[in-house]
Amino acid sequence: MNIKTTTFIFSTLLLSAFLSSSCNAQEKGLKDVAQGKFLIGAAVNVNQVKGKDPKCIELLDKHFNSIVAENCMKSEEIHPQENVYNFTEADEFVNFGKKHNMTIIGHCLVWHSQLAKWFCVDKDGKNVSADVLKKRLKDHITTIVTRYKGQIKGWDVVNEAIESDGSWRNSKFYQILGEEFIPLAFQYAHEADPDAELYYNDYGMSDKGRRDSVVKLVKMLKDRGLRIDGVGMQCHVGLDYPEITEFQKSVDAFKAAGVKIMITEMDMSALPTINRGANVADKVEFEKKLNPYPNGLPEDVSAQWNNRMTEFFNLFFKNADVITRVTAWGVIDSDSWKNNWPMRGRVDYPLWFDRNYEPKPFVKDLINK
Ligand code: XIL
Repeated sequence: MNIKTTTFIFSTLLLSAFLSSSCNAQEKGLKDVAQGKFLIGAAVNVNQVKGKDPKCIELLDKHFNSIVAENCMKSEEIHPQENVYNFTEADEFVNFGKKHNMTIIGHCLVWHSQLAKWFCVDKDGKNVSADVLKKRLKDHITTIVTRYKGQIKGWDVVNEAIESDGSWRNSKFYQILGEEFIPLAFQYAHEADPDAELYYNDYGMSDKGRRDSVVKLVKMLKDRGLRIDGVGMQCHVGLDYPEITEFQKSVDAFKAAGVKIMITEMDMSALPTINRGANVADKVEFEKKLNPYPNGLPEDVSAQWNNRMTEFFNLFFKNADVITRVTAWGVIDSDSWKNNWPMRGRVDYPLWFDRNYEPKPFVKDLINK
């Protein structure tokens, strides 16, 4: 071999080593960026679980290490009649999580929305007695948590029990059992799987009234010797709400109450704000002017959206001592519930990946930082 050939081979080797290392660098996912800080989660729907969207599965494998069920574990799905459980989709969800090495989160055991019709009422539609509801709650929670014992890392035990002003939500659970339904639910869940983490989950967690009441709730559970590991801040946010500083105040307050924090359902609407909450039942009629970007997000709005997402992630990283998971409520924009809530038929851009399965600019920035 002459010197020229040797130099040629050597430089080709160097170049390919360089290329492959820079390719590897690009292959980093969000979960690698957050490694050692917090888990990166996604809510998955049954289509993804059934493998009907292979490109979404590629994104899940690359960027995420945790999943939560978007719908299939809610009571109307998993427990449609008093003596009928439908575990098919929840089982598929859990098996999917195991196959893809995900930390699996259960959502949710007690919630006023997507509530099985029979749950709180008798045959005539009247609220059942406190004793009957306790028995039903216990059966529901024990059966589900026991089935997935050792497979689900943590449960959203109670979802959305507190209003923005800090008062109790007037749900059927509250009407029948008063605030007692909450400690009971935590007790039943803990008895069914003593190793599972247990969370209280809610939206609008930067609202002062709700923040203060969640802190009181955590203290009440702890004072009674019940297990509560964390508070889930759903984080359905918009371009104009909430103030990041108010969000930080809630992080500080929950941290001081001695619980972990999970960002459990993150999405950020890019559309005009109609409703600052996330109560599934709140719906308004379609209006064209409130659906301004049916054919794509203008660059200035996209820049605003990405900057604000970066601010949120800066907050998450800054508080990584207490934030243990950041979960997006969906994978790609077209799957998001925000396209149909609170107004059906809008085109929204709330998630971390766009309709072409491409990471949004803020995700690329985080990865290439
Ligand atoms: C949403 C789902 O994404 C939708 O598919 C469904 O139609 C309604 O519920 N807070 C929660 C989630 O805790 O379970 C909700 O999920 C969104 C608001």
